[in-house]
Amino acid sequence: MNQATLHQLKVFEAAARHGSFTRAAEELFLTQPTVSMQIKQLTKTVGLPLFEQVGKRLYLTEAGRELFATCRSVFDTLAQFEMKVADLKGLKQGQLRLAVITTAKYFIPRLLGPFCQLYPGIEISLKVTNHENILERLTSNLDDLYIMSQLPEHLDISCQPFMENPMVVVAPSNHPLVGEKDIPIKRLAEEPFIMREPGSGTRRSVQKLFDDYGVEAKVKLELGSNEAIKQAIAGGLGISVLSRHTLMPEVSNTELTVLDVEHFPIKRNWYMVHPAGKQLSVVARTYAEYLLDAAKEFVAQTPTSNGEELEKHS
Ligand code: PGA
Repeated sequence: MNQATLHQLKVFEAAARHGSFTRAAEELFLTQPTVSMQIKQLTKTVGLPLFEQVGKRLYLTEAGRELFATCRSVFDTLAQFEMKVADLKGLKQGQLRLAVITTAKYFIPRLLGPFCQLYPGIEISLKVTNHENILERLTSNLDDLYIMSQLPEHLDISCQPFMENPMVVVAPSNHPLVGEKDIPIKRLAEEPFIMREPGSGTRRSVQKLFDDYGVEAKVKLELGSNEAIKQAIAGGLGISVLSRHTLMPEVSNTELTVLDVEHFPIKRNWYMVHPAGKQLSVVARTYAEYLLDAAKEFVAQTPTSNGEELEKHS
């Protein structure tokens, strides 16, 4: 293995994790032929095939699985070393890897500006993705901190709630139900509904509430982004349930409105999460404290960040 490079191992690890050369290439900002070439060279060095293709799917061979486990431990050890060095350097340098669910993108990036100004030497990477992908990243221990709304039941984690993340029914402003009070939840079944994609935490919360009250939504459209859903609602394609934070910059926007429906808002929180027992770097600890303070300040300054006061907006 002396000839294998760290770069090849990184490429292999990403391909093995995703089960796809294409997705590994996307993650690492490489071309697909580069990924294939690196893996081909690594395979030659190992002397055994690392992947096998069955139908359209890519599987690890036994040698591939062994190498994957080895990569994980090599990268964990390197990350710990980096963390120790960063701790020795204090907050002058270092890395912060954040992964947040889609609704948090309306809040977290805004806070990164002042943090970067305080600590200009810190390099930040921010991954914004849906609930299921966050769980995968958490399981693979890819980031320092995670922000999510639904806590995983089967993972050992440390978590801290820091702000409410209520979900509301959003409709176009010219919708006939605008202005009605306490609309029965079953009434929603008569409206064309726009749903987030499978794997989304928003979708899960909506489905749970609808199941609890026997509402069968008429799903007309499935979309993988809150922004796309907002555009579709404004375009008159239907109504949806979204985090109130997705409307924050546009509360006064005339195209969208929040309907006053019974059992809404769905009350949820954002949590800051990391795997239990994970040693946080000094950078991650500092960011965590900063975020908790900033959230308190935000809530104090923005009454509409509190779920109670959101529901009657129409
Ligand atoms: P989602 O998560 O992007 O997976 O829907 C958002 C949320 O749970 O607030």
